[in-house]
Amino acid sequence: MRAVVVALGKIGLPIATKIALAGHEVTGTDIDSRVVDRVNRALEPFPGEAGLQDALERAVGEGRLRATTDTTAAVAEGADLIIAVPPLVVDDQARPDFRVLDSVVADIARGLRPGAVVSVETTLPVGTTRERIAPAMSELSGLEGERDFFTVHSPERVYSGRIFRDLDTYPKLVGGLSPEGERRAEELYGQFLDAEIRGMGSAEAAELTKLAETTYRDVNIALANEFARFADRTGIDIGKVIDAANSQPFSHVHRPGIAVGGHCIPVYPRFLLAGDPEARLPAAAREINQGMPAYAVELLEELLPDGLAGARVLILGVSYRGGVKEPAFSGAFGVARELERRGARPLASDPLYEPEELRALGFEPWDGGELDAAIVQADHAEYSRLTSSDLSGVRAIVDGRGVIDPARWTTSGVRVRRIGAPAE
Ligand SMILES: NC(=O)c1ccc[n+]([C@@H]2O[C@H](COP(=O)([O-])OP(=O)(O)OC[C@H]3O[C@@H](n4cnc5c(N)ncnc54)[C@H](O)[C@@H]3O)[C@@H](O)[C@H]2O)c1
Repeated sequence: MRAVVVALGKIGLPIATKIALAGHEVTGTDIDSRVVDRVNRALEPFPGEAGLQDALERAVGEGRLRATTDTTAAVAEGADLIIAVPPLVVDDQARPDFRVLDSVVADIARGLRPGAVVSVETTLPVGTTRERIAPAMSELSGLEGERDFFTVHSPERVYSGRIFRDLDTYPKLVGGLSPEGERRAEELYGQFLDAEIRGMGSAEAAELTKLAETTYRDVNIALANEFARFADRTGIDIGKVIDAANSQPFSHVHRPGIAVGGHCIPVYPRFLLAGDPEARLPAAAREINQGMPAYAVELLEELLPDGLAGARVLILGVSYRGGVKEPAFSGAFGVARELERRGARPLASDPLYEPEELRALGFEPWDGGELDAAIVQADHAEYSRLTSSDLSGVRAIVDGRGVIDPARWTTSGVRVRRIGAPAE
């Protein structure tokens, strides 16, 4: 099999190496020449993906993977399978901007040869494959879709950091625009994946599956957050309650927390809602989860006898989650906004970010000076070892992720609150 993988990002590059290591010939393409250059030199362009450097060395070393910035030329060399996984950019309301996707589709279409299967793995609003991608591909290639070439959607369900494991574990979902296209795509994916390949019967079903699994998580977390807020009003420890509830097989309640961030979970429920504006639960869940950063600030204000006005408050963690350098839809933004609204001065620190990077994101970096209070926003592993002596002057701390050890703080008189747990 000959394959082209378009967009060698955190998702595309591991897939390209995976195909190459299964013995196939792969060309990876990316608009960023630095990425292309590094791939051709067998150097991973980003850290943190388990097994990627080793896989890249083998794939490039064996001559099965090469990279180029010219997508059209790579496709025109004649590929059986073209996998495209460009980012779908969204604004702060998660409304998609299709320009990058459209330009990738145009680049592929201009090189398209009869017989190819084009699989778009980017998460999409339902209907995008059939109504946007396939017609553009036909128009720009001059070929007839589902006769001369085939378009499918195959959502990427992996988790950054453990992609190779996930690729071999989770069923690979494939949804075509015709039975023949879907059958061909299933057969091609089966040539390099060990996981079950599951035909979904339509591109729309495949698109909706990814939106369903991510919306499920958003709704579930929103429910946990509502439980936690009730627990806070009644002095119940919600962690204990959730563990107990989940001890029978019908309950899978997630954990409450200060924010739902990242590229996926806050965004894909909005894609779903764009197609199904009458869906009430996903809309309510979004509202509840978006309200959590402000709720954490409210808890903090209750701990400070003089309130928040004029207080210097440290936001611990700008990343949307621990261990990952990614600020997309991070709760840190909402926390900072709410602190400012209540008259406090938000400061930020994050072990993964340099002070100038924090500034570029709009935060004032903490210079190590006196503080009044702190809020744990990201569950960086380092925070479990924090003590009150690390944050001089702090009188109150809200742990939005349940990561600090309250005993290390309360002994020196610091007031501690965790979301969903009685006051310490
Ligand atoms: N990262 C995840 O955890 C994850 C998980 C599941 C699904 N996804 C899906 O994968 C998509 C891509 O995510 P990612 O994390 O790999 O993104 P990324 O930002 O790591 O990489 C995107 C790559 O696309 C390249 N690119 C941009 N425009 C291009 C163009 N016109 N032609 C060729 N290349 C171009 C960029 O240079 C970059 O290397 C997401 O939009 C999402 O739909 C991501």
